[in-house]
Amino acid sequence: MSKGKIIAIANQKGGVGKTTSAVSLAAALARKKKKVLLVDSDPQGNASSGVGVRQGDYQAQLYHCYTQEVPAADALVVPDKKRKLTIIPSGIDLAAAEMELFPVKQREYVLKNLLSPIQADFDYIIIDCPPSLGLLTINSLTAADSVLIPMQCEYFAMEGLAQLIKTIRSVKKSLNKALFMEGLLLTMFDRRNRLTFQVEEEIKKHFGDQVFKTVIPRNVRLSECPSHGQTIIEYDVKSTGAQAYIKLANEFLRRQK
Ligand SMILES: Nc1ncnc2c1ncn2[C@@H]1O[C@H](COP(=O)(O)OP(=O)(O)OP(=O)(O)O)[C@@H](O)[C@H]1O
Ligand SMILES: [Mg+2]
Repeated sequence: MSKGKIIAIANQKGGVGKTTSAVSLAAALARKKKKVLLVDSDPQGNASSGVGVRQGDYQAQLYHCYTQEVPAADALVVPDKKRKLTIIPSGIDLAAAEMELFPVKQREYVLKNLLSPIQADFDYIIIDCPPSLGLLTINSLTAADSVLIPMQCEYFAMEGLAQLIKTIRSVKKSLNKALFMEGLLLTMFDRRNRLTFQVEEEIKKHFGDQVFKTVIPRNVRLSECPSHGQTIIEYDVKSTGAQAYIKLANEFLRRQK
């Protein structure tokens, strides 16, 4: 049986659209009948609440897998059977995991080892990373086959990127030789802002084909749907935000061949 592909959604810069992209791409792939697991690897728990999972709805979360040897299979939550989307949820407890992992031997490989027994049950496993380059993100990059980097088209976008690329290189060198770049995704694109186009051009000059052709526009529906516990696909499939993520899923799938 072939193993599911693991994609880490990472950028240590906060608020660039990691969670929105993780949840929406997962939902768009599930809509295409792919078996998708979303792993919420951020103590903020935004991916969990974004798919309507609340603390108390579940017995185990990623924190318990990391620190109490709970198998990942026991932390799977299916928030809505119609949706064909499974999640390993997280909450604020996960913040302690980085400290608790510190003395653990091979502490960078914990998530990889956790996901490996369930990897063949899914086509895609999408990990939503926190806005840091700490141990949770390092574990995600070590477990992943590829990394997808969402970027907001704003003036300082490129600055943090150098640090991120450096971290990815060093993970590749020492922890996960096979890690590759799935692509850079431009998010919250605002056509009314001239600077946006300049930044887009700059990013494309540096990263060429690694930039997804699909661009995610700024769309108020995308910012509304998490408070309803619904992915954009359920909340408003006709919105430009949903359509952009459906397009992204198509481009993503085409690139897999
Ligand atoms: N394309 C978009 N259009 C409008 N609002 C968006 C869009 N993408 C994301 N947002 C909103 O911007 C905010 C930040 O997005 P999101 O939570 O996805 O970023 P993040 O990188 O996961 O943040 P963090 O670093 O805190 O985890 C959220 O309020 C989200 O609803
Ligand atoms: Mg987030």
